[in-house]
Amino acid sequence: MSESNEEKKDEIQLIFGDKRLDGRRFDELRNIKIEAGILKRADGSCYLEMGKNIVVAAVYGPREVHPRHLQNPSKAVIRYRYNMAPFSVEERKRPGPDRRSVEISKVSREALEAVIMKELFPRSGIDIFVEVLQADAGSRTACLNAASVALVDAGVPMKGMITSVAVAKADGVMVLDPMKEEDNYGEADIPFAFLIRGGKIESIALLQMDGRVTKDELREAFKLAKKGAMEIYKLQKEAIMKKYISESVENG
Ligand code: CDP
Repeated sequence: MSESNEEKKDEIQLIFGDKRLDGRRFDELRNIKIEAGILKRADGSCYLEMGKNIVVAAVYGPREVHPRHLQNPSKAVIRYRYNMAPFSVEERKRPGPDRRSVEISKVSREALEAVIMKELFPRSGIDIFVEVLQADAGSRTACLNAASVALVDAGVPMKGMITSVAVAKADGVMVLDPMKEEDNYGEADIPFAFLIRGGKIESIALLQMDGRVTKDELREAFKLAKKGAMEIYKLQKEAIMKKYISESVENG
């Protein structure tokens, strides 16, 4: 937390009895809306709202990799770009990549590499672009959830789904899916991504943390994140089913 946030923290109360600033319980997600297949020109796509976060994911491929020297003869090359629109945050964000977006792109790509069956597509590339149109904390988790759905929509063979959610420590309490105030003025922020296979959490594909928590708090964070991820996973699956049902109706 920066010094100015440290000062502001004294004025901002995040927890009110068993409720949070926005009225949620500690283990409650923000409202989530997911729609698969919204872009005509992408092989797979997804629109996702997670609270006030609004993101769009587009997947292209598997396709030939350019430049060719980047090709891998034994598996597909995965590329992931997390990008924030200049108007997505309160203070205009300078367009183009910065240290934060390069880091988020890297860890998100690594999380998705855990599920994509890359060996099936030697020499090819799968490009995943995720645009943040509005950010309100947890944008990397919203982007990963959207990217996962867009990959399925593109028909990319996967071992499972990646489902992502953060947990924060706010006024000493662990809370699921923090919004901006909890992220800014809370004591810790812990984004998770899980590999879910056959309806069960199989492993952790991403885990980051800034701030400080005790062992018990970390255990509580893990428990909350697993609960939240299973709820998000259900919505991801529903969005995919909805797209395929509407496609099969259209195709008779
Ligand atoms: O979005 P996420 O929590 O994954 O990443 P973060 O680096 O913890 O950023 C938390 C929030 O800070 C973002 O979701 C934005 O709302 C805000 N932010 C901002 O206002 N300006 C930036 N240049 C970067 C982040």
